[in-house]
Amino acid sequence: MNNTLTEITEKLNHGQKLKHSEFVTLLKSNNSELRENLSKKADQVRRLHFDNNVYIRGLIEFTNYCKNDCYYCGIRKSNKNASRYRLTKDDILECCQNGYKLGFRTFVLQGGEDPYYNDDMLEDIIFSIRNSYSDCAITLSIGERSFNSYKRLFDAGADRYLLREETADNSHYKMLHPDEMSYDNRMECLNNLKSIGYQVGCGFMVGSPKQTAENIANDLMFIQEFRPHMVGIGPYITHVDTPFSTESNGTLEETLLIISILRLIEPKLLLPATTSLGTIHPLGREMGIKAGANVIMPNLSPTNVRKKYMLYDNKICTGDESAECVRCVNTKMASIGYNVVTDRGDSPLI
Ligand code: 5AD
Ligand code: FES
Repeated sequence: MNNTLTEITEKLNHGQKLKHSEFVTLLKSNNSELRENLSKKADQVRRLHFDNNVYIRGLIEFTNYCKNDCYYCGIRKSNKNASRYRLTKDDILECCQNGYKLGFRTFVLQGGEDPYYNDDMLEDIIFSIRNSYSDCAITLSIGERSFNSYKRLFDAGADRYLLREETADNSHYKMLHPDEMSYDNRMECLNNLKSIGYQVGCGFMVGSPKQTAENIANDLMFIQEFRPHMVGIGPYITHVDTPFSTESNGTLEETLLIISILRLIEPKLLLPATTSLGTIHPLGREMGIKAGANVIMPNLSPTNVRKKYMLYDNKICTGDESAECVRCVNTKMASIGYNVVTDRGDSPLI
């Protein structure tokens, strides 16, 4: 490594904030030596705070209707080939029941932005989960809503919220989204969620169309300032039925590098090795954990709808084997020396 790079990695290793230009230098110097170096440090730092524990979250994809038309996403409203579904409250409670038996103590309700589920309905669903599973955390991942809506759902019992910023660069945001969506609103939502008291997760896709190293550096600067409890990142993967169908995918290597950087920026971060990382490479999630991630989100959705929640092509865990996700994840984690734990796994940052 040259002197500048050594200085930057030393700063990162000592918990000092990096400048935008330093993040850009790191990202542009992506090579196996740098990745190994940062990955080793990231793993050490993670073990200080989390030992070799990996937290599991049960993902319930309860609707693939979406009123938005994000250019990258397979369930965008203009995709007429998507076969749409919604789960009922009973369906969702059944997923929780199955999940609870399997050891899950966090349920993540994720869906497209589907106005069918208004605040009253969501409140009712959240109340019911809260009453039946008082020892579990409830995470929502249902997009942009008003301050009042976020507040009502928090008061009903939701603890955490995932809303990726997707890119912390206004002009890049416009390249990924139609005019109806705005970067400013996205940021306002994230601020509102934090001020209400949610444990908040943000994040972005690695290698999304037209993304530059400078864009990613913006995300890393934003994360340094915003101080989220969780950050979800995974490679962008092209979906055939989107305007980006001919774009190329993000890479395993860049995603791993950024996972390690994130761990070093904020040692106590909850950082998932995502399904998209497992899709881009058969051992992607294992490599993500080794590079500093500490969360896995197995799918708890009913198997008959899983193929319909296709955000990108070839998504894993949607076939016959998927009923076995939990056991599969346990085995995978044990094979690399990590330990899946059954507890809420709250953020140590609260
Ligand atoms: N590739 C990878 N990730 C995607 N997402 C949406 N579409 C894709 C894609 N084509 C991510 C977005 C969203 C999260 C739920 O899934 O970042 O926030
Ligand atoms: Fe889903 Fe392995 S984690 S099949």
